[in-house]
Amino acid sequence: MAQFEIKQLLAGRDHARGNRQATQMQNFAYLAFNRETMEGFLIDPAWDVEGLLKIADDAGVKLLGVLATHAHPDHIGGSWLGLVVEGIVELLKLRPMPVHCHKIEAKAVEQSTGIPASKLTLHEDGAFVNAGDLKMQILHTPGHTAGSCCWLTEGALFSGDTLFLQGCGRVDLPGGDAREMRESLMMRLSKVPDSFVLYPGHAYGGSSALMSDVRRTNRSLTGGMSRM
Ligand SMILES: [Fe+2]
Repeated sequence: MAQFEIKQLLAGRDHARGNRQATQMQNFAYLAFNRETMEGFLIDPAWDVEGLLKIADDAGVKLLGVLATHAHPDHIGGSWLGLVVEGIVELLKLRPMPVHCHKIEAKAVEQSTGIPASKLTLHEDGAFVNAGDLKMQILHTPGHTAGSCCWLTEGALFSGDTLFLQGCGRVDLPGGDAREMRESLMMRLSKVPDSFVLYPGHAYGGSSALMSDVRRTNRSLTGGMSRM
């Protein structure tokens, strides 16, 4: 098993300090890295890319790329529905690296950020992106957006806006689909073991928890689909 480490980074606290909008949105970015090779990834870097790069640099981590869960600006930056956020455009100017996402999300990423599909690294469901023996698998979980995904590694699920500790992502925005969300939550995520830790895209209802506990307490998984 890979020796890996996860740093959970809350916008407004760990980076983007003093940014009221970031504080309100409660977004998590993650630094996930291999402790042997000190190589890793930024998951959903937004709001303060210099701050996030500094955290990676201070930890001594060489970044191999960005893993995006979906195209909304509070996760990857850009502008959409009146929200303007710093993100992968600024990051790539400072430090070029591959941006990985599900192939269906490419168009939405271009709409949010202006970065064309040809500049993204697009994946099919189930593909792996590796840092040595730290293997990050993309799991297509549509519903919040058409190309929303989770990133899965040994013991950890990075769920973006598909699943929070309480509730699940909205399905009423463009690209959202309630039927697909239900399928993602009930079928696609059912293969994630109880022993894995959920690391969500927002601090709604908490910051991280065992999947066994989330399955007991989250109404989106126990029956009703409470939306955040
Ligand atoms: Fe979102």
